[in-house]
Amino acid sequence: MSTPSADPARGSARVRRPGFDDLDRRWLRARTGVKWHGVEADVLPAWVADMDYPVPPVVAEALREAVDRADLGYPDWSEGSPLRRTFAHRMATRYGWEAAASRVREQTDLIQCLQLLLHLATSPADAIAVQIPNYPPFLATLDTMRRRTVPVPTVDTDEGWRMDIGALADGVARHACKVLLLVNPHNPTGRVLTREELEEIAGIARRHDLLVISDEIHSELAHAPHRHIPFASLSADTAARTVTITSATKAFNLAGLRCTVTHYGPDRLLALRDAQPPDLYGTVSVLGVVGTQAAWQHGDAWQTDLLTVLDGNRHQVHKTLQTRLPALRHHLPEATYMTWLDTTRLGLEGVDLVSHVRDTGRVLLDGGERFGPGAAPYLRLNFATSQDILSDILDGVVKALGPTPDQWAPAAS
Ligand SMILES: Cc1ncc(COP(=O)(O)O)c(C=O)c1O
Repeated sequence: MSTPSADPARGSARVRRPGFDDLDRRWLRARTGVKWHGVEADVLPAWVADMDYPVPPVVAEALREAVDRADLGYPDWSEGSPLRRTFAHRMATRYGWEAAASRVREQTDLIQCLQLLLHLATSPADAIAVQIPNYPPFLATLDTMRRRTVPVPTVDTDEGWRMDIGALADGVARHACKVLLLVNPHNPTGRVLTREELEEIAGIARRHDLLVISDEIHSELAHAPHRHIPFASLSADTAARTVTITSATKAFNLAGLRCTVTHYGPDRLLALRDAQPPDLYGTVSVLGVVGTQAAWQHGDAWQTDLLTVLDGNRHQVHKTLQTRLPALRHHLPEATYMTWLDTTRLGLEGVDLVSHVRDTGRVLLDGGERFGPGAAPYLRLNFATSQDILSDILDGVVKALGPTPDQWAPAAS
């Protein structure tokens, strides 16, 4: 059941969805996870990529059943977990990509997948092409593993954020890159690459014989009409050179379960991976597999509601900021629940933006600095919360970064 609510930012009634818009702030503050834990009692956290919503009921039920069965003994993954088949089936039905269950391996963390792949396929000083800005742990990994980062800028255009594919071609040729680390849909901008763009990238990968590590963790959060296309699905060539890394954690809000899958296109890399000591990289947990399995097999109705809620929220963010803070440049994200805010026109040079927004607006955002060179004047805002909390978050951001109310532009019609 849903009830309509006035939504000044959209200028129309917006439905309030139980399970998404009725979040109790005390319940959220009682969480021990990194997003809410340790944040001051009157500060709203809109940072790290966790959503505020409850666990999808089908997932909660599956987890409860496993506990009720006391099914927490050593898992039997001798033939691989059931996730391998479920992942392959999901790729076939959602994207028409014939991923092979036999090529899937489990891992606890996506960041661990990247580290393992770099360890197996590259050596220190090898050059890796990577979009900038980017998910900070990926950039930190390239640094600590002493791989050379070849930046591929994401540029701000009138049509939205665009990956600079010309810069990719130049960088790969100039630095003899071995790997392209592709994040699509893109964190932090929410851009979804089109088939034409992906084919252009595939051409560069073919000409320079790149291994492509394709992070598609945000793929199920593409907002219509944008559609995700798995990179490996483009052609036989991309299938053979792509390792796809993903999980259910973003699209079903399960990051605490620590369970991911890696699909190995290249035979040689899969053989290298299987020749590693069997326990060196750990084992996914029973609850991680049960939760992921339940989400992928039975979570689609919940996810449809989620996407409706996130679509409303992204418009709420966009319209509110356009109206009340027009100098803060940003674009409506094409996927996921983060938006990337450019403060360069606000006259705040030299200000510690995260501290300023926290202290003045009582909202905690992610600062751009860790997202790569040139990203310091940016902030990332997570809008996966209730309409009421989001309104308070936006009020805080406007209070901290914006002009006074009498200077606000009239609401866009
Ligand atoms: C692009 C991207 N990759 C990977 C991750 C994290 O994956 P994991 O928590 O499984 O390490 C995130 C989390 O926000 C992300 O945005």
